[in-house]
Amino acid sequence: MYHKQLDDFPADFLWGAASAAYQIEGAWNVDGKGPSIWDTFSKIKGKTYEGTTGDVAVDHYHLYKDDVRLMAEMGLRAYRFSVSWSRVIPDGDGRVNEAGLLFYERLVDELLANKIEPVITLYHWDLPQSLQDRFNGWESRETIKAFKKYCEVLYRRLGKKVTYWVSMNEQNVFTTLGYRWAIHPPGVTDLKRMYEANHIINLANAEAIKLFHELVPNGKIGPSFGYGPMYPLNADPANVLAAENGESFNNDWWLDVYCKGTYPRFVRKQLVRLGIAPTVLEEDEILLKSAKPDFLGINYYHGGTAQQNRLELSDKDCEKEFLGTDPYLMQPKSGQAVTPEIPMFNAVENPYLQKTDWVWEIDPIGFRIALRRVQARYDLPIFITENGLGAIDTIAENGQIKDYYRIDYLKNHILEMKKAITDGVDIIGYCAWSFTDLLSWLNGYKKRYGFVYVNRTEHEEKDLRRIPKESYYWYKQLILENGVSIK
Ligand code: NOJ
Repeated sequence: MYHKQLDDFPADFLWGAASAAYQIEGAWNVDGKGPSIWDTFSKIKGKTYEGTTGDVAVDHYHLYKDDVRLMAEMGLRAYRFSVSWSRVIPDGDGRVNEAGLLFYERLVDELLANKIEPVITLYHWDLPQSLQDRFNGWESRETIKAFKKYCEVLYRRLGKKVTYWVSMNEQNVFTTLGYRWAIHPPGVTDLKRMYEANHIINLANAEAIKLFHELVPNGKIGPSFGYGPMYPLNADPANVLAAENGESFNNDWWLDVYCKGTYPRFVRKQLVRLGIAPTVLEEDEILLKSAKPDFLGINYYHGGTAQQNRLELSDKDCEKEFLGTDPYLMQPKSGQAVTPEIPMFNAVENPYLQKTDWVWEIDPIGFRIALRRVQARYDLPIFITENGLGAIDTIAENGQIKDYYRIDYLKNHILEMKKAITDGVDIIGYCAWSFTDLLSWLNGYKKRYGFVYVNRTEHEEKDLRRIPKESYYWYKQLILENGVSIK
């Protein structure tokens, strides 16, 4: 008789793939859609690679049935996608655009008809431009009200059909890139504003979760966080402490709020000292405490390595040294990592790790460490909502796309995830990033992630033909066997 091994993937494990509206849909002004901050930002000269925009992207809006057919042929059990807020409510808080809503309903129906579990992300960075113009976007509490309204529209329309929902995608990344580095919209470099906006987003996230639990009692919701574990450069206690500091600033700052409803005292104290702590009202504290996610979404790409900063910083020095908090902001062109630094913590290269073409460290064991840490700290079921390799794929003469490097990458990460399950981590599913190739926010179509190649470049839309890569067939087999023979 067959005895289920403790380290098997659960029978209902959600093997999936992910995407985001702006990166795939195109149809940016079709059927009543309003512009988002990305529609506007990408059209400003010099903001994106070779001026690429998501105006057409991979035209998933018109080709979604073809894409779902490919998912079904692959045996995909879950598909994570995001809803474009301004497609559903063009100005963010006013009239509902039925045509936009219908697109998502049809997509959900198509997925369900093919036995694919839809996973809906409510916010994947494309804020309605009108909210930015009228209220300064996430810097205003008006945007919380608007988000709540938008969520309500979706919960009421799709809550009976869709079980899994992601409230917020990589808040740590979009706030840092948008309000500190100014390389994402709204293009601000101001730490005070960054922390204020971040707090407003926490409140919006909490409202969305609370409302979900009222309106969709049988569903499950959680945020997706871009988690990267911090390592000390070596066993020098000063570096170990630096890694602790990094962990607090890069991860706990967000995860404690999501999962425990409180800001970590250590980080808060530093921010107060620097005069950049957000204004937190008493009612905010109550709200944050009252909205517990059902699962924690983890997007895993890589972590970071910390070395001590100067330990005896005066407040003034500290201000000078204070550079930010993002775990993985790598700039492809210079080939150089943008190192996040905070007081008492310098980010340095890890001498043991190889890097991708975009100088992101490749660290499968870090994935296991990440899962273990998050499970131990928050004890919630975990849904891997992203993990994947950005690379330059080419079509061989025989028409194949031999992305063996991607297979290798995914295999090594899935193996470590399997070990984490053996370790006792409760994991619901794994969505590789991404299903088809898609627009990389700042890297056009050069940096590809998909299981399915899309025939287009920055300059030429070509025929947008879909071609399954070798990794597509590999993942198909893995799903078929429920990961049993992976080694
Ligand atoms: C995180 C983001 O959620 C996604 O939109 C992005 O394309 C991938 N990581 C790869 O950078």
